[in-house]
Amino acid sequence: MDLFEYQARDLFERHGVPVLRSLVATTPDEARAAAERLGSPVVVVKAQVKTGGRGKAGGVKLARSPQEAAEKAEEILGMDIRGHKVEKVMIAEGADIEQEYYFSLLLDRANRNYLAMCSVEGGMDIETLAVERPEALAKVPVDPRTGIDWDTADRIVEEAGFAEDDRRRVARVLGVLGRLFVDQDATLVEVNPLVKTRQGDIIALDGKVTLDDNARFRHPDHSVFDDVDAGDPLEKRAQDKGLNYVKLDGSVGIIGNGAGLVMSTLDVVAAAGADLPGEPKPANFLDIGGGASAQVMANGLEIILSDPQVKSVFVNVFGGITACNEVANGIVAAMHMLGEKAAKPLVVRLDGNAVEIGREILNEFNHPLVTVVDTMDAAARKAAELAATTTEA
Ligand SMILES: Nc1ncnc2c1ncn2[C@@H]1O[C@H](COP(=O)(O)OP(=O)(O)OP(=O)(O)O)[C@@H](O)[C@H]1O
Ligand SMILES: [Mg+2]
Repeated sequence: MDLFEYQARDLFERHGVPVLRSLVATTPDEARAAAERLGSPVVVVKAQVKTGGRGKAGGVKLARSPQEAAEKAEEILGMDIRGHKVEKVMIAEGADIEQEYYFSLLLDRANRNYLAMCSVEGGMDIETLAVERPEALAKVPVDPRTGIDWDTADRIVEEAGFAEDDRRRVARVLGVLGRLFVDQDATLVEVNPLVKTRQGDIIALDGKVTLDDNARFRHPDHSVFDDVDAGDPLEKRAQDKGLNYVKLDGSVGIIGNGAGLVMSTLDVVAAAGADLPGEPKPANFLDIGGGASAQVMANGLEIILSDPQVKSVFVNVFGGITACNEVANGIVAAMHMLGEKAAKPLVVRLDGNAVEIGREILNEFNHPLVTVVDTMDAAARKAAELAATTTEA
């Protein structure tokens, strides 16, 4: 989960990373009031969107009075920045910047490690710097067992080329950011720019934080970051039921067990629908995992069937530890549980452990909406055809 800048800033503050005072506003009037409350001669009005390059897009503007803050907020609110609509702005105190630096700490999956990146040339487009002058961007591996301890922090500031006088102060801030990264289970903490003010303070002026959703169970407090406006309502419901569901744009609902099987099912359905009227495509990703019970099958079917875009459903299961007869029983039970809510055609392909018994159960069930097809390709074709014909009708 990515955080908005103002949320990252609040996390920074809680952990003791130096930040500027700021307030969030959703209207020009609120922006004016916020600037009055901050009472600083210069404030910065900043678009709150979960994408980079806000400054370049005109989403970061200086204002020299509360009235001007309202005007800048008026310009920025509603703006579209790389497909993200600005719903909120952050009004921050203006900093008296002497120098802008870059710092990030991220999970380096390939090396099973953390990686710190740091440069005394921050503020600008860091991707450009990394390509054009890679020597100006220090890359320092960080051992997850120690995090950014004093030694590591010293190494980072030295390799990044900080002036002797600044090293100690910057290193201290990097240490705090490193602890935040670990304590919050982040996969990315980026500060661009980290600045030195003319008063000599080191301050995080911008913050980008990505939290690891897989560690969510350790952080009930992270639910305050949930973006209730964003995200699909079906995805929200699926998440509440503990399902691994991603909404897509097509009309063929997909249920499978195992992420790999489900992903290849998406491909096969898209290919099967390519030459059909309306080119039916997958409506979702849904992995019910191994050992899925009838209840899980019912939950999954219920979510998919309540998607108005769905015209047909393809259940693609490879029986492993959970044998096909259990899956078939799950489908039967799910159809009973759903009753009249199960009103769209279902194509079921079962293979693997106890496949014969599984198919037998479904054949005996003999439900008018359930078709059993033996192979993945033929089943995908059938599901796509059903979606195509229903679209035409
Ligand atoms: N509070 C502030 N006071 C003074 N100048 C600021 C302040 N906040 C930002 N700036 C200036 O604006 C520039 C851009 O700000 P910021 O880094 O927040 O946005 P951005 O980099 O364009 O956005 P993103 O990081 O999402 O790409 C900074 O490099 C800094 O020069
Ligand atoms: Mg920035």
